[in-house]
Amino acid sequence: MKKRAYIETYGCQMNVNDTEVIFSILEGAGYSRTEKMEEADLVMANTCSIRDNAEQRIWGRIEVFHQLRASRPGLIVGIVGCMAERLKDKLLDTHKVDLVVGPDAYRSLPRLLEAVRPDAPQIDVLLSRDETYADITPVRTDRGGISAFISIMRGCNNVCSYCVVPYTRGAERSRDANSIVREACDVYQRGYKEVTLLGQNVDSYLWKSETETVTFANLLERVAAIAPDLRVRFATSHPKDISDEVIYTMAAHPNICKHIHLPVQSGSSRMLALMRRKYDREWYLERVAKIREVMPDCGLTTDVIAGFCTETEQDHADTVSLMDQVGFDWAFMFAYSDRPGTLANRTMQDDVPADVKNRRLSEIIELQNRKSLERYRSQIGKELEVLVEGPSKRDPNRLCGRASNNMMCVFPATGRSKGTYTTVKVVDCTSATLICE
Ligand code: 5AD
Ligand code: SF4
Repeated sequence: MKKRAYIETYGCQMNVNDTEVIFSILEGAGYSRTEKMEEADLVMANTCSIRDNAEQRIWGRIEVFHQLRASRPGLIVGIVGCMAERLKDKLLDTHKVDLVVGPDAYRSLPRLLEAVRPDAPQIDVLLSRDETYADITPVRTDRGGISAFISIMRGCNNVCSYCVVPYTRGAERSRDANSIVREACDVYQRGYKEVTLLGQNVDSYLWKSETETVTFANLLERVAAIAPDLRVRFATSHPKDISDEVIYTMAAHPNICKHIHLPVQSGSSRMLALMRRKYDREWYLERVAKIREVMPDCGLTTDVIAGFCTETEQDHADTVSLMDQVGFDWAFMFAYSDRPGTLANRTMQDDVPADVKNRRLSEIIELQNRKSLERYRSQIGKELEVLVEGPSKRDPNRLCGRASNNMMCVFPATGRSKGTYTTVKVVDCTSATLICE
């Protein structure tokens, strides 16, 4: 009988995609996917190390897995992903998991699963210079069947001083462009209407073969050419690398969605230098001005960190003023979390007290809530084309779908079906949803 695997996924969209790759590899080892932990023969968490609270959650989950193992002898408990890479010893020694596998070692899962015994846990956390899982067709775990994520690169070569990713995911490498285009064609043929190209820093995508060199702009163009009714999205862009060529390519193709996620992290040039972001406030504002000049309706979202090492009230005020000036549609906002092994951790003091960090974070969130409402209000009266994703979560009698700028719209269900495009008129909004007719 087929064995069953249950995986919980934490962290970023790339982890969600990795879980899909893992399910594909596990199929080859005789495991089918289950969404019920209680019936599984293998339970795993695909983990995230980005902030301390992400890791804290996982320790709790491991306890739950162990309780399950007590009532299901033979159950294999595995930890994969960023935390496996970072905390292999602790996971094996004090937390007694059976399997620890890092982000570049998923191909060894079948072999490791064969070898696992109660007294012989298995581990592979080797990082690779060339693994991109290009030839593995992910087992899509989304239920909608409308929007698929495709990894185009792995790892990261920027050494932002606060960030653990280069240590957990290794060096940057770009995936074979032809395999990306093939995967996009394949999901389109299976009825998907949207693909999101994923990478830590998509603007530095670069793939060379003997006959060709493919930049991110070239790749966008190729994927956009698959079909006019296949939408193309991407994330994440880096302000230091997003080129005019990418901006013009977006503008030239109606099916490349007009949305850029452009993490700013701070509005203070002094902080940006300490963070090793390799741009300053002026550069960031210039990139935003360029995007808006070429694509006035482009949605812009960002990430912000409050309370990085040595941040003063003036630095914080610079972040607030930048956010006020740009007016992002949406932002992910975090208190700085000191991560062992990072440059900041080794060379700087995490010296902003927790209460100050949290106060600054609250101020940023409060401002962004107002800005989001302003940005969403500015859409009232407009007609937008949306891709229908399915029933609205709040009101099953209505449907929801995203506009090109990534804003979520809800609208009446009559005469419309999932996976089609429809034009709606915005009549009202909250700070996260456009109410449409
Ligand atoms: N502390 C807080 N936030 C962080 N991020 C990355 N590292 C840290 C950290 N050590 C945030 C950044 C990044 C997002 C994915 O997570 O804003 O863009
Ligand atoms: Fe994704 Fe970063 Fe978390 Fe790893 S640490 S799962 S790359 S968000």
